[in-house]
Amino acid sequence: MTKDDDPLMLHYARELSSRVETPFYFFDIEGIRQRIRDFAAVWRAHFPGAILAYSYKTNPIAAITTIFRKEGGRAEVVSEKELLWALADGYPGSQIHFNGPAKSTEALRRAMEADAAIHIDSLDELDLIFKLQVDCRPRIVLRASHLLASGERSRFGLLPDECHLALDRLENTGLSADGIHFHLGSNINSTAKYMQSISDNAPLLDRLLAQAPAGRKVSLDIGGGFPSRSASDVKIIPIDTFAKDTLRTLRNHNINPTDLTMIVEPGRCLVEEAALLATRVMARKTRAGRHLVFVDAGLDLVRSAGAMHHRVWFESERFEQHHTPYEVCGARCYEADRMPTAAVGPQDVKIGSMVFISSAGAYALVQAGVWNGLCARIYGVDGSKVFELGRDGRLPELISTPS
Ligand SMILES: Cc1ncc(COP(=O)(O)O)c(C=O)c1O
Repeated sequence: MTKDDDPLMLHYARELSSRVETPFYFFDIEGIRQRIRDFAAVWRAHFPGAILAYSYKTNPIAAITTIFRKEGGRAEVVSEKELLWALADGYPGSQIHFNGPAKSTEALRRAMEADAAIHIDSLDELDLIFKLQVDCRPRIVLRASHLLASGERSRFGLLPDECHLALDRLENTGLSADGIHFHLGSNINSTAKYMQSISDNAPLLDRLLAQAPAGRKVSLDIGGGFPSRSASDVKIIPIDTFAKDTLRTLRNHNINPTDLTMIVEPGRCLVEEAALLATRVMARKTRAGRHLVFVDAGLDLVRSAGAMHHRVWFESERFEQHHTPYEVCGARCYEADRMPTAAVGPQDVKIGSMVFISSAGAYALVQAGVWNGLCARIYGVDGSKVFELGRDGRLPELISTPS
């Protein structure tokens, strides 16, 4: 355990490991609820009425997606399946934001019939919407492309000229756009990119605000991408800084924040830290002074562990007591199947000892492989109640239901 880890969650995960097979994911459901509340409170302190739309792709299991609905959040989806899951979770269509660069005709039709906000990603998509004979007014948001670090434009969304063209076409058919949206990436540990995109889109916001009938707000959706602990082992920018800088940047452009509905689409920063992957030591080796342990999980069960800062630690050990660094290797039998950073453990680590990998709650489940038939169940604790999650048909069977 490291000083950053939640002792209660570890207590329940450790207790569970004596009763069930490893590997398994373990979620702190109450922790997610609390993070949503804290995150919402921070945004609403600067933007009263700010809306949170949870990104389904980050982790679509119903036990998590429904928490957001109960906490008054909305759903952000990128496929027809996710749209149907959000409706099944009880979100009214009007509280669903439908994103994605390649929406099918059927998905668009369903979204329009449900009154979901459709985030237009290309002019072709807008044309398709015009052609669809659906007996309701579409709710349109323009997804604006953003500048990449290279200076090129992202492939997502519309170029600035295309945004204006889309608005012209909407106006010509008696329609308008509810607002604009950009999404910049994930685990972004700086506010600079967000502020740049707000500045880039200020002329578009001005146009929408000028057109909006009196009393109607224009939505500004700045997407997800807010950092979680895996973004850095040094310092994570607090969410409050994102909210404050957003307000400041809007004011710098003479945009009155009370004329806007502020929307954020968090995923990772709310669920990633709320889960760990519990694995067990199966074999030990030394190689020219290097200590290796092999665990019963493939490290693709937390795919970002190769690139981001995930902590790894041995079960029963107090982090300050041990000094032996171990390379933690997976069971998948391919070269890259090992953690990039060492875990510090006791000199005589035992076969069967638990090894925990932190920050397993975002994207890990949806990207996990089932190669070699390696399975992982999903459990969670809510208060003091421990239960199995994930048997809702939204994940490959081997992830949620091992034989
Ligand atoms: C449009 C959109 N919104 C929100 C998110 C959530 O991002 P994150 O999990 O980094 O907060 C994503 C993820 O890629 C996305 O594509």
